[in-house]
Amino acid sequence: MEAIKDVRCEVKDLSLADEGKRRIEWAEREMPVLRLIRQRFEQEKPLAGLRLVACAHVTTETANLARALSAAGADAVIIASNPLSTQDDVAAAMVKHYGISVFALKGESIETYNQHVRMALDHKPQLIIDDGSDVVATLVSERPELISEIIGSTEETTTGINRLKAMLRDGRLSFPAIAVNDAQTKHFFDNRYGTGQSTLDGVIRATNILLAGKTIVVVGYGWCGKGVSMRARGMGANVIVTEINPIKAIEATMDGFRVMPIAQAAHYGDIFITVTGSRHVIDGSHFEKMKDGALVANSGHFDLELNLVALKEMSTDIRTIRPYVEEYRLRDGRGIIVLGEGRLINLAAAEGHPASVMDMSFANQALSVEYLVKNKGKLEAKIHLLPEEVDMEIARIKLTAMNISIDDPTPEQIEYLGSWQTGT
Ligand code: ADE
Repeated sequence: MEAIKDVRCEVKDLSLADEGKRRIEWAEREMPVLRLIRQRFEQEKPLAGLRLVACAHVTTETANLARALSAAGADAVIIASNPLSTQDDVAAAMVKHYGISVFALKGESIETYNQHVRMALDHKPQLIIDDGSDVVATLVSERPELISEIIGSTEETTTGINRLKAMLRDGRLSFPAIAVNDAQTKHFFDNRYGTGQSTLDGVIRATNILLAGKTIVVVGYGWCGKGVSMRARGMGANVIVTEINPIKAIEATMDGFRVMPIAQAAHYGDIFITVTGSRHVIDGSHFEKMKDGALVANSGHFDLELNLVALKEMSTDIRTIRPYVEEYRLRDGRGIIVLGEGRLINLAAAEGHPASVMDMSFANQALSVEYLVKNKGKLEAKIHLLPEEVDMEIARIKLTAMNISIDDPTPEQIEYLGSWQTGT
C-alpha cells in the first residue's frame, strides 16, 4: 500500500494520474448538477469530518462524486464495486490530484476485491455508499461491532436494493438505507439510457461487430432491459425479449419486440445480453441450443447471470481471441463466445454510463448522504426513498443545464387538479 500524506491507496500506477485528471474534468463538463452540489458542499461542509466509504465503479463519473464528497468535508475511502470496472488512471488521479484514499485495480482478483472491502471497513465508516451491497453485507455479517457508528447507507443499484430488502426481512438491517436506484431521476435515465447505450458500446468495443441484421436476445425487461432493447433496435438488430414477469412481457410485446422463453430464444440469438439481476438466466441447457459463434454478455450487476461454471464443464477448450472475448469450444465443435468474463460488459469493455446520466444518479447519491446526516437519529432502520421534492429539484437543475424550459401550471389548473367537484 502506498501513502501520499495521509492518503492511502492500492492503485495500479500513480504515473497515470495526469491522464485520469484530464478525463475526470472532461466528464465534469457533462455533470452540471453534481458540480452545483459540489460548489454548495464546499461552502456548507455538510459532511465535515465524517468517515465515509464509497464502493462504486471507479470511473471518471465516480471521481466527480468523490470530489463532491471531499468538498463536503468527508474523510472518504473509495473501493471498486467490481473487479473489472476500475479505470486505473482515474484511481491514480483521485489519489494524486484530489487527495482521496482509493483501493481499486482493474483486473483485481476476488480475494483482493474482498480484502479491499475489509480494508474499507477498517476505516470505521459512519456513512456507506454501496453499489451492489457488498460493503453492507460484509459489515452486517463480519463486523457487527461497527454498526453502532453507522448513520446510514445508500444503495445505487437494483441488485443491492434486493439484497437490502432480504437483510431487512431477516432482521439484519439495523440502520436507515436510502434506495438511490428508486429515485425517478436515477432509474428512468441511468438504467434505461445509460445501460442501453453503454451495454452496446461494451459489446461493440469488445468485438467490433456490426449489430444491424443480428438477432439480439435481451434477457430481462426491467429499465435496463428496456434501454438495451430500444438501442439494439435502433442499431438495426432484430430484438427478442425474454421475461418471467407477465406484465413486463406484455409491455415488451406492445413495445414491438418478440417475446418467448429463453429455451426457445437460445436457438435464434446471435448475441445474448442478460440484464435481470437474477442467477443463471442463461444456463447449461441454453448454451446447448445456441448457434456456433453465439456471443453472450451480461450487463447485470453480478456475473452469475450466465452459468459459466456449466459452460466450462461443457467445454474442451477456452481461448482468448482479443481482450474481453473468450471462446469456449464445446465437445461437438461449436464455439460460444463470452464477453468480459460475464462481468458487466458496459464497464468491463467500455467506460460505463456516460457522465450526463451519472450526473443525476450521483446527485442523488450526494444529496442522500447529506439527507442521512441532516436526519441523523431520526430515520427508522429501513429502506427509504429520498423525498420527491429532491428528485424534482435534481430534474429541474438538469433541465436548466440542458437549456430546456417547461410550463408552470396556472392558478386555475392548480385549483382544478386539487379538486373533485368538476366532472362530466
Ligand atoms: N455504473 C454504470 N456506469 C457507471 C459509471 N460511468 N460510473 C459509475 N458507476 C456506473
